[in-house]
Amino acid sequence: MESEIFVNQLISWYRHQKRDLPWRHSKDPYKIWLSEIILQQTRVNQGMPYYLRFVEQYPTVDDLAEASEAEVLRLWQGLGYYSRARNLHACAKTVSTVYDGKFPDTFEELLKLKGIGRYTAAAIASIAFDRSNAVVDGNVYRVLSRIFGISDDISDSKTLKIFEKKANVLIVDQSPGEFNQAIMDFGAIQCTPKSPSCAICPMSSFCFAFNQGKQDTLPVKTKKVKVRNRYFYYYIYEYGEQILMKERGPKDIWQGLYDFHLEESPVSKDDEAVLLPAADKAIFSLQDFSEEVKHILTHQRIFTKFIRLQVNDLGKFESLAADKNLTPYRMEEVQELPKPILIQNYLKQAFF
Ligand code: ADE
Repeated sequence: MESEIFVNQLISWYRHQKRDLPWRHSKDPYKIWLSEIILQQTRVNQGMPYYLRFVEQYPTVDDLAEASEAEVLRLWQGLGYYSRARNLHACAKTVSTVYDGKFPDTFEELLKLKGIGRYTAAAIASIAFDRSNAVVDGNVYRVLSRIFGISDDISDSKTLKIFEKKANVLIVDQSPGEFNQAIMDFGAIQCTPKSPSCAICPMSSFCFAFNQGKQDTLPVKTKKVKVRNRYFYYYIYEYGEQILMKERGPKDIWQGLYDFHLEESPVSKDDEAVLLPAADKAIFSLQDFSEEVKHILTHQRIFTKFIRLQVNDLGKFESLAADKNLTPYRMEEVQELPKPILIQNYLKQAFF
């Protein structure tokens, strides 16, 4: 009974309140997929310009498949979690070559593709192909746990199945895509993590959390993410108009993106120690020694200082490049390289 009222209220709320988003004007699975991958990384407002740039640059999955990885990373720049962008590209290549440019139309087949997990497979299957597969994301956890008083710990991976089951019972078979988007919009706009708008909520009369005053304790989430501190010292070697950069390798953040010569330390270093490699005044002139910049990622806090050095001697510049596996780039070229936002911000402030 409650379930039925919930679904009716939800759909009616959505028809009045839904956000007008560009991918909602299309049932093209490519556009749905692209928007969902971007929205896993950021909020709607921030993700929108990325979505628009991607569809303009790559109108079809075949266009995206044919792009170079560096181009895709460059377009993704600023969204973070760059393995998502690499998976996006890999998935486009598979769809283009193995599936003849057409996304598969079932949850199970979609799940086989790179970077497509249960959430994304359900989103595409329901929105693009009208299949009754319920999505479970942070919004769905929040809305269902509050309305129905589900207190299972959402940091426990087994809990996903409990919520999937509930959502799959509720989903509206005539318009599953609408149901999924309605519950996500409702979670994003009305049933927000902090200060939900209960006073104007059409669900409050039967909402468990509202009636028990448990909006702040539902959903239950016990595990906090562990955060590690890292200390980065970036040495920017310049010779005339050129600077030395390198592509980051696998098994760490920012694979495939470009940065400068990096000395990393597990603890903070004294400025004196940081400047030691630049001590030879005959070779280096110090252009800048930055303040510490703090860069926050999900599991890491990165404290960075930039040491900008003009190298006075071409031979030394070339031997630094060879020894430290760096490549010289002119400024116009640097602009085009995909870079972490930390590096982009420094370059913007210091050079561009
Ligand atoms: N968040 C991620 N995907 C969404 C969608 N399709 N609608 C609303 N919010 C979303």
